[in-house]
Amino acid sequence: MKLPFSEAYRIKMVEPIRKSTREEREQWIKDAKYNLFMLKSDNVFIDLLTDSGTGAMSDKQWSEMMLGDESYAGARSYYKMKDAIKNILGFDYFLPTHQGRAAENVLFSTIIKEGDIIPGNSHFDTTKGHIEFRKALAPDCTIDEAADTQLEIPFKGEMDLKKLEKILKETPKEKIPCVVLTITNNTAGGQPVSMKNIRETSELCHKYGIRLLLDSARFAENAYFIKTREPGYADKTIKEIVKEIFSYGDMMTMSSKKDAIVNMGGFVAFKDPDLWKKCQMFCIMNEGFITYGGMSGRDMNALAQGLDEGTDFDMLETRIKQVEYLGQKLDEYGIPYQRPAGGHAIFLDAKQILTHVPKEEFIAQTLGVELYLEAGVRGVEIGSILADRDPETRENRYPRLELLRLAIPRRTYTNNHMDVVAAAVKNVYDRRESITHGYRITYESPVMRHFTIELEKI
Ligand code: F0G
Repeated sequence: MKLPFSEAYRIKMVEPIRKSTREEREQWIKDAKYNLFMLKSDNVFIDLLTDSGTGAMSDKQWSEMMLGDESYAGARSYYKMKDAIKNILGFDYFLPTHQGRAAENVLFSTIIKEGDIIPGNSHFDTTKGHIEFRKALAPDCTIDEAADTQLEIPFKGEMDLKKLEKILKETPKEKIPCVVLTITNNTAGGQPVSMKNIRETSELCHKYGIRLLLDSARFAENAYFIKTREPGYADKTIKEIVKEIFSYGDMMTMSSKKDAIVNMGGFVAFKDPDLWKKCQMFCIMNEGFITYGGMSGRDMNALAQGLDEGTDFDMLETRIKQVEYLGQKLDEYGIPYQRPAGGHAIFLDAKQILTHVPKEEFIAQTLGVELYLEAGVRGVEIGSILADRDPETRENRYPRLELLRLAIPRRTYTNNHMDVVAAAVKNVYDRRESITHGYRITYESPVMRHFTIELEKI
């Protein structure tokens, strides 16, 4: 008999979580103004809000924490991180930051000015926020196929090179400080980008004399999909694939809370020493001295170790198979989600689930609240609340997709938890006809409103 698949680790430490009653949850979500970010985590049973900083570190990472060098300048831990970034990713220069958006801040403070255009394949929300806050534009050049949730193609997160070239052709070079390629494409459903598309995006940028920035939060998951889906890569190791990916980029921003499996940390890395020098000022002003940025020595150690573990095939396979497992359960129940299952999350297609809720009443948010009420499972809205208002007209933007993301932390939950999540989604799906109304906004902030928005039931 063929042996079944199983995890590439065993568990040494556990953290209790608590179930609650529906009545309790009704009160808690009302107190949170129907914003899932505002719930106390103790009041959540299975927390799929994000896979960012929520993974379980390994015994080796915890050991590295004890070896951290907390010197202000030139710490051993900085050099450990530098070696890992050079050996695994191939970049010579970097600045540590406290997380991914801080890396964006350091880089964009240096290179973006008002009126610039930074095209990309579905910029992540903080990336877009940093661009629009600087009165620059972030046009989306993702392939159209990404918007059809039922279409199964292997690389659904790709850049549409025709859309990109149109912008590069029509815009003066000085107005495009860089192009952003996000791997995997989080907003489109954790969908990967092929090596071919990474290479061709890079060639196109360089043809127009423009730098390519790789937003690399989930670069290792992207490499796993290249290995398992793209012809010619099956026999290459993840680390070989990762090296090739980064050979095409001029800079990378990294939220290490994802594929480097730490609870906090990030960096921005460069090929060009002049740009690295230029960015140092913003790092020192906003993050810290250039050899620690926003990180403590122990965290830099854990990050260096995490980069090695995060690019290990067995570790990646364990993770991605768990996401796939949840997808298969949902298939059994006939529940529509962005297909195929992504690297870090399942994105439920809220428009196809809650067909009676009008878009003005925030369909994916309504589904998120229902799922929490059902079983204490917390996801996150990737829909019109996140899409925010148009910076010029201030009208609500209604994206083509209304998704509820169920992001799975690394090495944290078991497949029994996934069974609970799938059953909870099924129960909401079974009573979908009775869910006819959503929410209206009672408070929102001018930028990135989704984190602190307040809602009331209609
Ligand atoms: N880029 C991508 C693709 C991301 O997914 C994130 C964060 C960032 C940049 C910013 O990094 O959080 O370390 O500041 N994504 C998290 C998520 C928050 O839930 O998807 P950060």
